[in-house]
Amino acid sequence: MQSDDNGGAEQRPNPFEWMGGEPAIQRLVDRFYDLMDLEPAYRELRASHGSELDNARQKLFWFLCGWLGGPDHYVSRFGHPRLKMRHLPFSIGILERDQWVACMDQAMIETGVPEPLRGALQRSFFNTADWMRNRAGA
Ligand code: HEM
Repeated sequence: MQSDDNGGAEQRPNPFEWMGGEPAIQRLVDRFYDLMDLEPAYRELRASHGSELDNARQKLFWFLCGWLGGPDHYVSRFGHPRLKMRHLPFSIGILERDQWVACMDQAMIETGVPEPLRGALQRSFFNTADWMRNRAGA
C-alpha cells in the first residue's frame, strides 16, 4: 500500500510491522475466510470461491505479507501477482467487491488492527477490489 505523506512517515513502522508482523496477518486472513464461510452477509462472495478455502487462505497470507511491506512470500513463489488477470475466472461485480471489503473490514476490527491503519487499509482494499471488477453493475 502507499504510505500517506504526513511528514512523519520515516518515524513510523511500515504497515506490516505496525500490524504485528506475520502472526497478526495470519490471524487476519484466517478470520477473513472464517467469516466468509460463516456469515450470510457474504454468501455471494463465498459462492464465487470453490468448495474449500485453504488455497485462497494460504495465498492471501503470502500476498498480504509483501503488500504490507514485509517478506515477499507470494512473489518469490509465483512471480508478479497480476491480480486482475488471476481473478478473471471469477465473476466480480459491485456485490462481490462490497462483500470482500466488508468481510475484510469485519476481520480487521475483530483481530484488532489499530486505527488509523485500519481506515487506510480499508481504502486501499476498496481500490484494489474495485479495480478487479470484471462484470458491469451489481
Ligand atoms: C473483489 C472481490 C474478490 C473476489 C470475488 C475474489 C475471489 C477470489 C477467488 C475465487 C480466488 C481463488 C481462490 C483459490 O484459488 O482457491 C482468489 C484468489 C486470490 N485473491 Fe481474490 N477475490 C477478490 C478480491 C481480492 C482482493 C481485493 C485481493 C487483494 C487485496 C485478493 C487477493 C487474492 C490473491 C492473492 C489470490 C491468489 C491468486 C493466485 O495466485 O491464484 N482478492 N480470489
